[in-house]
Amino acid sequence: MKRIMTILVGLCIAMTAFAGPALAAEQSELGSVISKQEQQEVVNVAHRGASGHAPENTMSAFHKGVEMKADYIEIDVQMTKDGELVVIHDTTVDRTTNGTGDVGDLTFEEIRELDAGSWFGEGYAGEKVPTFEEILDTFRGKVGILIELKAPELYPGIEEKVADALTERNMERPNNDKIIIQSFNHESMKISKELLPSIPHGVLAGMSWADVTEEQLAEFATYADYFNPNMNIVTHELVSNVHEAGMKIFAYTSRTQEQADRLFQLNVDGIVSDFPEHVYYHPVKNK
Ligand code: G3P
Ligand code: CA
Repeated sequence: MKRIMTILVGLCIAMTAFAGPALAAEQSELGSVISKQEQQEVVNVAHRGASGHAPENTMSAFHKGVEMKADYIEIDVQMTKDGELVVIHDTTVDRTTNGTGDVGDLTFEEIRELDAGSWFGEGYAGEKVPTFEEILDTFRGKVGILIELKAPELYPGIEEKVADALTERNMERPNNDKIIIQSFNHESMKISKELLPSIPHGVLAGMSWADVTEEQLAEFATYADYFNPNMNIVTHELVSNVHEAGMKIFAYTSRTQEQADRLFQLNVDGIVSDFPEHVYYHPVKNK
């Protein structure tokens, strides 16, 4: 028995000695390629849920994002004619439901009757437009929620309604960044930050912000914690300027592995993608 143990220990030592050089060779072949370890440090945001796999902004897409181990689900919040907060991207229901009309001209009952899944695939027939509160109640504590106020200029008071829904659930407190609020409407973010000072806020930046200056970034940083740009304006210099200003940077919207890989190389803090599987493979989480 003692002899068998000695042989086994010897074998282990020999295998370890061979594995060292093999690993080193693998690493040197990778060259400048971002390691899996580094990829895991990039926040994985499922854009409108895992919207490459299920109809955007539906419970199916959000559950899929969680199942695929995204760190955050991203949601677009708007308001119905009768003041209900609903989760839908366009300001009309035309593209993603079987109805027509502006979100703000329809009552909650009217919107709730619509089919928000069939356009994506027959298997999703009957999906509803979710409410903001439904998302909070279903996903809080399970995944981060990146809340976008979509076209808040169309919905006066939407910042207060969002703040009330979070506060009613004690979700307005510091929470390890698991709730973030963002918008292309930066004035709306100033209002929201006043209402919810402990919640991180982000300014979304489209292509027109390609030449954002250090002074403008410093101004954003007076109320925002994130500068979240269109991925096509992201450069090393932008990432470094955003970090210098004390903010983080989540880039949107990656739809291919190549796009995600480029953003990894540029050292962004987070990638907003329709395909969470592009953003990382996490060996521990996926066990
Ligand atoms: O998270 C940012 C991204 O969602 C902004 O673009 O048009 O998909 O809402 P959009
Ligand atoms: Ca969005």
